[in-house]
Amino acid sequence: MEGIKFNKIGVSFKGSGSYVPDQILTNQKISQKVDTSDEWIKTRTGISERRISGLGCNVTDMGYEAALNAIAMANWDIKTVDLIILATSTPHDLFGSAPSIQHKLGAYNAVAFDLTAACSGFLFALITASQFLKGGSFKRAVVIGADQLSSFVDWNDRRSCILFGDGAGAIAIEATNEFDNVIGFEMKTDGERGSFLNLPFKNDKDSIIDNIDFLRGGFSPIQMNGQEVYKFAVKEVPIILKKLFKTTNYSSERVDWLVLHQANQRILDSVGDKLKIPREKILSNLEKYGNTSAATIPLMIDEAIRNNKIKQHDIIATSGFGAGLSWGAALIKWG
Ligand code: ACO
Repeated sequence: MEGIKFNKIGVSFKGSGSYVPDQILTNQKISQKVDTSDEWIKTRTGISERRISGLGCNVTDMGYEAALNAIAMANWDIKTVDLIILATSTPHDLFGSAPSIQHKLGAYNAVAFDLTAACSGFLFALITASQFLKGGSFKRAVVIGADQLSSFVDWNDRRSCILFGDGAGAIAIEATNEFDNVIGFEMKTDGERGSFLNLPFKNDKDSIIDNIDFLRGGFSPIQMNGQEVYKFAVKEVPIILKKLFKTTNYSSERVDWLVLHQANQRILDSVGDKLKIPREKILSNLEKYGNTSAATIPLMIDEAIRNNKIKQHDIIATSGFGAGLSWGAALIKWG
């Protein structure tokens, strides 16, 4: 980064991409491992199956495929990409996986780094990248959301293991001085309620020599208070979206699509009801993929674009929410 290079004022959406691993884990198969049923999972969450990445398919691989698809849709020369932000809580390398994606893509002119904000990660990364573009530092950015929570789920805990799956999505955005299609955004964090959802460090004490202790690296499986996370989502997401509509002078009637973090169909429906957004405008694909954390929003947007649902100039209200606790919303116009 070398300071301000371009005199740009806005952001344009140029492409989307996604990737999910081949392995399908159905509810029925989960019920062979823990005491649950297809009917319970479907009724309580809307999820039927999820994808699980096996050996040879990690966050870097999934993020790379999603980014490649987004760049192809944008029709960009790879060397013109200036910025790659990978939103993930499950990097293949704790020092960061975005540089590996940059290398695999051959995007040697791009600065690349990871950003962690759990299920709000993609939204926070999109806002971060758009601020760089609007500030004039970069022209072209690829924002990726990719997660492999299957590696951190306790597959014996029926209260949480039913929810999560693996996948990646990406969006290609470009600075422009003609308009701004990031109409507005809001971001929030509440660390006080952070204990509702954690993927904590293990705290395995060991000693190096004599009385010099250290903590061995490693993480415990996901710990979740599902009911509290649920209550948080159905309360805070409508509030933040209503605030966003107010500050941008938009109303929910002007929204073509509501793209929420795909956590639970009941959360999607409840938020839609509170905002008086009809069901046919609420995009959902969690039946097939479950909660893929930072990947859900770009995975959903990419599917809707490729299915010709989201069209040029459609208005999308989007919100990510989850661990932290963190949550945010953005109002965007596609194109
Ligand atoms: N199968 C069968 N029974 C189950 C299961 C299961 N998989 N899981 C829980 N139960 C039982 C419970 O033991 C309980 O039984 P009891 O009444 O005898 O004690 C009963 O079902 C009801 O349990 P609840 O926890 O009240 O179920 P709820 O309706 O709240 O659904 C769920 C649980 C699906 C986890 C819901 O709370 C939820 O979706 N919460 C949000 C979680 C979420 O989205 N987390 C991710 C956030 S994003 C991120 O940052 C990663």
